[in-house]
Amino acid sequence: MITLALSKGRIFEETLPLLKAAGIEVLDNPETSRKLILATNSPDVQVVLVRASDVPTYVQYGGADLGVAGRDVLIEHGLDGMYQPLDLNIARCRMSVAVRDDFDYAAAIKQGSRIRVATKYTQIARQHFADKGVHVDLIKLYGSMELAPLTGLADAIVDLVSTGNTLKANHLIEVEKVMEISSRLVVNQAALKLKREPLRRMIDAFAAAIPA
Ligand code: ATP
Ligand code: PRP
Repeated sequence: MITLALSKGRIFEETLPLLKAAGIEVLDNPETSRKLILATNSPDVQVVLVRASDVPTYVQYGGADLGVAGRDVLIEHGLDGMYQPLDLNIARCRMSVAVRDDFDYAAAIKQGSRIRVATKYTQIARQHFADKGVHVDLIKLYGSMELAPLTGLADAIVDLVSTGNTLKANHLIEVEKVMEISSRLVVNQAALKLKREPLRRMIDAFAAAIPA
């Protein structure tokens, strides 16, 4: 049995065409079913549904043989025990620094002020500001980052941006791009040895179907 870890929503939806290219169709719809283990048309392939940030944990410890996770999630978790053979070029967005539209970020940086930054992505944010030589106090949040500058909790946020609509709706502006984000395939290192042939076939089929 091959177990693939996916999160509900965009990663599940955007992985479906790749699975199809590998001849695999998921038999349940996660939006309507309460099942967490989904069967496929292939008797030896199953999909497990986990939180996006839990995908690397499942793959690292072998709870799943492989999984799909954002570059953001993988940097925050680390890649211990996993190979990352493919950038699937799905769930594309960027990690950015954003502030209130009336906050003078450039001046704050120039003055060398300590900036309070709220984020779910503390590793990425820490590295970004260290590379720039900017002193920051990081505040860990688990969601709704956009609220932090509006309530005075923080001066800036580090968050994912795609269309920019969420920032705009909350009177925030993007002031720095930190990195481009897409989702990657990750494979448990031991599984790749023990189940080499079927995993290789799946990786090759995914590779051939990556969207441009
Ligand atoms: P969790 O459930 O663990 O809190 P999450 O809510 O961030 O995770 P999703 O919103 O499904 O989970 O996002 C999964 C991945 O999709 C993210 O890790 C990121 O790589 C990517 N992503 C997030 N937001 C967007 C977006 N607006 N557009 C494109 N890709 C995105
Ligand atoms: C993500 C991210 C931003 C938003 C950015 O949230 O946390 O808030 O997308 O996208 P935009 O630039 O196109 O507005 P998501 O849509 O995944 O909602 P979530 O907070 O429920 O995960």
